[in-house]
Amino acid sequence: MQVFGLVGNPVGHSLSPPMHEAAYDALGIDARYVTFEPAVDDIGRAIDGADALGVTGLNVTIPFKQRVLDLVDPDPLAARIGAVNTVDFTGERPRGYNTDAAGVTRSFAHHDVPLDGRDAVVVGAGGAGRAVAFALADSGCDVHIANRTAEKAAELADAVGGASAGGLDTLDRVRDADVLVNATSVGMESDESPVPREVLHPALAVLDAVYSPVETRLLREAAEAGATTIDGAWMLLFQGVEAFERWTGEDAPVDAMNGALRARLS
Ligand code: ATR
Repeated sequence: MQVFGLVGNPVGHSLSPPMHEAAYDALGIDARYVTFEPAVDDIGRAIDGADALGVTGLNVTIPFKQRVLDLVDPDPLAARIGAVNTVDFTGERPRGYNTDAAGVTRSFAHHDVPLDGRDAVVVGAGGAGRAVAFALADSGCDVHIANRTAEKAAELADAVGGASAGGLDTLDRVRDADVLVNATSVGMESDESPVPREVLHPALAVLDAVYSPVETRLLREAAEAGATTIDGAWMLLFQGVEAFERWTGEDAPVDAMNGALRARLS
């Protein structure tokens, strides 16, 4: 039996176990996906221990994504983003990936939204914002980053290269944009939106990284404005799909994984 899992603290309500186990069931893979919650200072021992015990793969979440970067061989994208969310133990040395970026691009691809040459606005410049900004820039978008703390947006734009940045007062740029991604926590378990509804329009495709609730206020107002909407469960799904494919080398059973996820989200 193969063992996969998620390392984080806390990991209590993670949707990754049912999502990945649905994939193993669909493809007849003898595997389990379990959650691990090491003490914050024990992450180095946890990664070494997983390697020694023959764990096949781990996902990594808050607060360990940055620290794991130094504990594994990161691929170039994970190194640029500065965070690892997926570790593959099958090689000589543990290898680190960032599948959050693929979660973004595959969500747009799944909804037939082209990214190459498009104008994109990213709201947020934290951990999620970094993965989103690199993903969109690498897909050929012209990226603008708007963040409550404008300096953090400027730093991220510098790291990405060729992106512009500003405070939330620059969200007017959404009026002329093709793509908008919310990478802040605004709207999580609250009926708030980080983007004024007046700037939303029908030619826009909006992805909200928040998936609880699935229909955030931003997505509701975007739909009312006639925009294409993509909820955060797609991003969660496709980062998992990408991790599954890295670990197994097989095409993921996307519908089975999506079904397991949606069944657990309201
Ligand atoms: P994550 O890893 O989920 O991105 P994070 O690194 O703490 O979490 O980043 C949270 C993001 O949400 C940041 O962009 C943050 O803005 P600041 O950099 O100014 O802190 C943004 N954010 C959180 N609460 C916000 C609020 N009430 N209004 C606007 N932006 C907010």
